[in-house]
Amino acid sequence: MKATDNFTLKNNNGVEVTFTAHGGRLVSIKAPAPNGEIADVVIGYDTIEESVVGDLYFGALCGRFANRVSKGQFELDGTSYQLDVNNGPNHLHGGFDGFHNKIWNVEPTNKAGAVAAFKLTITSADGDQKYPGELNVSVIYSLTADNQFVIEYEAETSKPTIINLTSHPYFNLKGAGNGDVCEHELQLMASRYTTIDPELGTCGGEIANVAGTPMDFTAVKTIGKAVNENNQQLQLGGGGIDHNFVIDNGGKGVVLAARLRDPESGRVMEVYTDQPGVQIYTGNHFDGSTIGKGQKGIVKFGGVALETQIFPNSPNVEHFPNAVLRPGEKYTHTCIYKFI
Ligand code: BGC
Repeated sequence: MKATDNFTLKNNNGVEVTFTAHGGRLVSIKAPAPNGEIADVVIGYDTIEESVVGDLYFGALCGRFANRVSKGQFELDGTSYQLDVNNGPNHLHGGFDGFHNKIWNVEPTNKAGAVAAFKLTITSADGDQKYPGELNVSVIYSLTADNQFVIEYEAETSKPTIINLTSHPYFNLKGAGNGDVCEHELQLMASRYTTIDPELGTCGGEIANVAGTPMDFTAVKTIGKAVNENNQQLQLGGGGIDHNFVIDNGGKGVVLAARLRDPESGRVMEVYTDQPGVQIYTGNHFDGSTIGKGQKGIVKFGGVALETQIFPNSPNVEHFPNAVLRPGEKYTHTCIYKFI
């Protein structure tokens, strides 16, 4: 496999998902509007060549531990580990050479109920990015006739380790290059979220109610209404939402976690998962300087990422979901992006 090798899943409704071997990165997702008009709803680049050298996380698979680990440190069975510190004082998305930057092995596979499927695999050596244990990961990307793009993760380890995998597409349901997502309506099935600790720059363990805060998306609300509020948590998120939401009834079976709608085109996307959390990131760091699809600068709030996962910094917070994977156990995670 080489970085630019790319693969496409298609169904008869015009949904088309293209990804590269490099990072398993979703470089385009085409989805129809109610009037039949198709748009590419993930931000990124015009060409595969630019995608594999561009923004590290656009559409990529993230691991071994997606999101942040405070100071890159954790303790497991009495041993202390120091991971890369690659995001301020913290570890982010598996380190400098995380899964987003690896060439995955890709092969077509059969999956019941899907019209097309690929299996992506990688072996991460014992000590890769300073994580313990050899980790064998497989991710199945599949597409159904009713527009569900399904991501199924599995992993096994040779030694006790920590794990949190996710996928990092930024969605703009108007179509990439068409400005920001401030008018997008978002609903989250989450009455609580994990706050960012100002000292740590990630979660310290507080789980707060969303009621009365900009994070309250329990009823449909535009993203713009939330991000324009004057609020310390938004400032800590880099001038917008960069927070993990605790999915109501999450972490057991696959449930509806989020619903995103663009009122202009009428496109709707639902997110389903069996994970306990979803990180909502409103693209706060974009400032027009990254030239994306259509040769347009990617503006602040130019796309929103909905990353299903366990909670940030879980390895250091006792009452957060379990982050530890041991030999003989299997890590599993399902995330579905459904286009309606
Ligand atoms: C994080 C952001 C980070 C971004 C990088 C998101 O998952 O929550 O803080 O800037 O990834 O692309």
